[in-house]
Amino acid sequence: MNLKEMAAERAVGCVQSGMVVGMGTGTTARYFVEMLGQRLLDGRLKNILGVPTSSETERLARHWEIPLTSLREHSLLDLTVDGADEVGPGLVLIKGQGGALLHEKIVARASRQEIIVADEGKLVQILGSRAPVAVEVIPFGWPTYESALRGLGCEPQLRMVDDEPYLTDERNYIVDCHFAQIDDPRGLERELNSITGVVENGLFVGLAHRAFIASPTGVTELSAA
Ligand code: A5P
Repeated sequence: MNLKEMAAERAVGCVQSGMVVGMGTGTTARYFVEMLGQRLLDGRLKNILGVPTSSETERLARHWEIPLTSLREHSLLDLTVDGADEVGPGLVLIKGQGGALLHEKIVARASRQEIIVADEGKLVQILGSRAPVAVEVIPFGWPTYESALRGLGCEPQLRMVDDEPYLTDERNYIVDCHFAQIDDPRGLERELNSITGVVENGLFVGLAHRAFIASPTGVTELSAA
């Protein structure tokens, strides 16, 4: 088992039959979805309903025949398991490398419990030191938001795929904002979202309840203070 699988295995152990479960996006969350599917197939879990945070996760869940629901039908989820790009002090997170931050944040807010699964390489003391903050913006106004983003102290970079701007599931752009360090994540999250044309950003403050962090010596559980 690799580190991501080890973290995902601890998280799937928190799922109980009958739960409505948010399913994150990314390579670590992928293991969780596969393990959930496996447990439904072999009967260890029953009556699970899943809410995917991206079209990619939805495809995977359908492949594993995980019954799906939506926030329209279930506006409060029992548990969500998702990955992160950085896990900082107090379980403040940077997310969004996978481009699904908007749906991930909506699902996290709708969850009684948000569990983060990651390998130890994601742990940071200073937020911003290894990952950019992904900012989802409306394509119509780009690049008029660029100077406002730069004014917050970052180097903004439009995410591209094959010479075309990357498009999210909501058909928006992602601007990767490189900050040297983030001292006030709550303030920055608010300031980013106050820029006209910004839909949401990848700073997750006060949303994660627990994290399972895997290292070669085992999985450590962290709780939000
Ligand atoms: C998806 O938009 C992201 O928030 C992912 O959860 C995050 O990038 C972690 O992905 P990995 O598990 O692939 O590192």
